[in-house]
Amino acid sequence: MLYQAFSLISLFHGFVLFLGPYSNTVYGDVTYSFPEEMKRGSVIGNIAKDLGMEPIKLSSRKARIDTEENDKRYCDINLKTGNLVIADRIDREGLCAKKASCVLKQELVLENPLELHHINFHVQDINDNSPQFNEVQMNIEITESAGKGARFLVGEAHDADIGQNSVQKYSIQRNDHFLLDVENDAVNLVLEKELDREQNGEIQLLLTAMDGASPSRSGTVAIHIIVLDANDNAPVFSQAIYEASLPENSPLDTAVLTVSATDADEGINGEVTYDFDLISESDKKTFVIDHKKGDIRIVGKIDYEDMTSFELRIKAKDGLGLASYAKVIIDISDINDNAPVIHLKSLTKPIPENVSPGTEVGIINVQDRDSENNRQVRCSIQQNVPFKLVPSIKNYYSLVTTGQLDRELVSDYNITITATDEGSPPLSSSKSVQLSVADVNDNPPVFEEQSYSAYVTENNKPGSTLCSVTARDPDWRQNGTVIYSLLPGEVNGTPLSFYISINGDTGVIHAVRSLDYEQFRSFEVHVMARDNGSPPLSSNVTVSVFITDANDNSPQILYPAPEGNSFMTELVPKSAQGGSLVSKVIAVDADSGQNSWLSYHIVKSTDHGLFSIGLHSGEIRTQRDISESDSMKQNLIVSVKDNGQPPLSATCAMYLLISDNLAEVPELKDMSYDESNSRLTSYLIIALVSVSTFFLTFIIVILGVRFCRRRKPRLLFDGAVAIPSAYLPPNYAEVDGTGTLRSTYNYDAYLTTGSRTSDFKFVSSYNDNTLPADQTLRKSPSDFAETFEESPEVI
Ligand SMILES: *[C@@H]1O[C@H](CO)[C@@H](O)[C@H](O)[C@H]1NC(C)=O
Ligand SMILES: *[C@@H]1O[C@H](CO)[C@@H](O)[C@H](O)[C@H]1NC(C)=O
Ligand SMILES: *[C@@H]1O[C@H](CO)[C@@H](O)[C@H](O)[C@H]1NC(C)=O
Repeated sequence: MLYQAFSLISLFHGFVLFLGPYSNTVYGDVTYSFPEEMKRGSVIGNIAKDLGMEPIKLSSRKARIDTEENDKRYCDINLKTGNLVIADRIDREGLCAKKASCVLKQELVLENPLELHHINFHVQDINDNSPQFNEVQMNIEITESAGKGARFLVGEAHDADIGQNSVQKYSIQRNDHFLLDVENDAVNLVLEKELDREQNGEIQLLLTAMDGASPSRSGTVAIHIIVLDANDNAPVFSQAIYEASLPENSPLDTAVLTVSATDADEGINGEVTYDFDLISESDKKTFVIDHKKGDIRIVGKIDYEDMTSFELRIKAKDGLGLASYAKVIIDISDINDNAPVIHLKSLTKPIPENVSPGTEVGIINVQDRDSENNRQVRCSIQQNVPFKLVPSIKNYYSLVTTGQLDRELVSDYNITITATDEGSPPLSSSKSVQLSVADVNDNPPVFEEQSYSAYVTENNKPGSTLCSVTARDPDWRQNGTVIYSLLPGEVNGTPLSFYISINGDTGVIHAVRSLDYEQFRSFEVHVMARDNGSPPLSSNVTVSVFITDANDNSPQILYPAPEGNSFMTELVPKSAQGGSLVSKVIAVDADSGQNSWLSYHIVKSTDHGLFSIGLHSGEIRTQRDISESDSMKQNLIVSVKDNGQPPLSATCAMYLLISDNLAEVPELKDMSYDESNSRLTSYLIIALVSVSTFFLTFIIVILGVRFCRRRKPRLLFDGAVAIPSAYLPPNYAEVDGTGTLRSTYNYDAYLTTGSRTSDFKFVSSYNDNTLPADQTLRKSPSDFAETFEESPEVI
């Protein structure tokens, strides 16, 4: 050690030399090296010797140690020996702390001459301090989830000493989990084996720090390791599968069940929350789970028909996310909450009214969404309709007719189908079905009356209405549309259509032309009413047309022959007494009744008062006896008048010859107009008289025969001068009062409003003159007689 000190001195000499220029009295340094904490009085060295001085001189030169300013004086000089001794405690750690070299500077002052020597003390460390930790006990929290190799820094230990005397190594108490690793003064616990809080929640370790001296000193710290819980336990459900049963339509907020799971972890790691896992949107709207309590409740409508059971996955999760799962199965039970639904699958519409009973007209399907008994459905319809429901396959029913339908009676049915299920309480629903009955042409038109009569006065205007017929047909549309037509018929051999026509739409019967009473007084028409169905139905009715008479015929004088053709002369015997019948004017009138009631007047006579004429009989009688003075030739102009309004009349001339003898006839020549014809005239007169006589006889015979047949015979004429109808001149009926032929009639075409072309009446031009001869009156004598019967005054 000393050797070291000297070598240092030489080093400081060099340094002094370098500073030399300051003073001659400053000498080089003396250096001593010694350990700290030496006892007071311990000799450090001999300064006299080291300075090469006699120790005796120390006293004389008043050697002393001066300290600069207030520095402590650590040493004293033994002036006798020249030894430097420790004067005060020298604590290296106190003076120099961690400096590697700790040097104390002291000054040695010598007087006479004044000399100043620096004395340096190198204070050397001794191991007087132990390593020391900051705390006695250290707490470390380590989560149990820390993996192998995890490092945890623990505080290092400190040693005031330096070098080998400072902390050189650490050691740790043997334990299961940790190793020690020191790296650049950083002391780490390295986890060698994982921790498990649930097994061992706290660990106590003793860490020791040692310095490098010998014997070494050490310091310890207790490490208290708290194993923090890691979330290493998942929650555990009490059951893997929870089951519940629930009626459908359960009210909202009904509790279904509660799931529960426990977690062995503590704190947040053991806090279990519940939720649905992988839940469908619809389930999410139906159920809700209380996240804390695990109660499952209903928040939506539960419909068995939609879903008969639910399977929910429940997840229980602890605070740090470890989860486990359970299943919840909720069975839904059916409630009768669906009424049956009636579907109309097919419907015959409309139904022809002639379908036979038992015809299927509709198919109905009934469905109920509930199950079991709740979906058993019974179906019915109301009474009093000609329909019934017949169960068919499964939920199908046939609607069939039970009777004959008649559209004309009931054309529409309102069928109410009622379906009831067998739930409790049962539910039912009903559906209304409209059935319409289609028309079939099953009704012929029916005339309102059994028969019709029409009265028309002759000489009617063409086109005038005779009457109208009406028939009704209750069928629908064209099946009930009535068309009128005339059935073919004849009047006196002429087709009926020649005289009348019918409006097919209205049933109005028109006369096509003027009717003539004298031609026929009545006839029958058969009118057919036909509907427009296919095939059509028809019926017919008889219309009797009666023609009433008009005074359209002037009396027709049959005897004597009309004027201008008068070669007829009546002989009157001279002996004729007053009142004797001399001749008779014979006239007929084609009219009837009053119109044919004739009256006779003498409008002009040669000798007034000689002859009179029967007002109604036309008999010419002498009013008095013929006297010699009476003129032989007597002419009478007789007018025959009927009783019509206005009356019509005809006149004739009657030539009477008062003579007993035909020999006087030559005088007839005077009476003739044409002498050359007188002979012929005489013959004709003779012929006529004989023919007349013959006919009178003939008529009397016929009347006699009739008289025998009839209970009450009637004579046409008093004078038995009967004119057979066959005698009437042809066309006489066609001659009107003025004797001119009727003009040609033009008829309008009667166009019906409908489209029935068959009913067009198309009468163009017609000329009366075209009447065939056999169209004239053919009157039998009896007809003639009846004519007169109509007027009681006759006879
Ligand atoms: C049919 O009956 C239903 C119910 O009874 C009613 O509402 C409807 O008006 C009826 N329809 C006819 C056309 O009568
Ligand atoms: C008329 O009746 C026939 C059957 O006779 C039927 O086919 C037709 O549809 C009916 N017409 C109407 C308009 O109803
Ligand atoms: C007219 O009707 C009767 C019974 O109503 C019938 O016997 C006759 O055949 C019908 N005549 C015609 C032409 O249709």
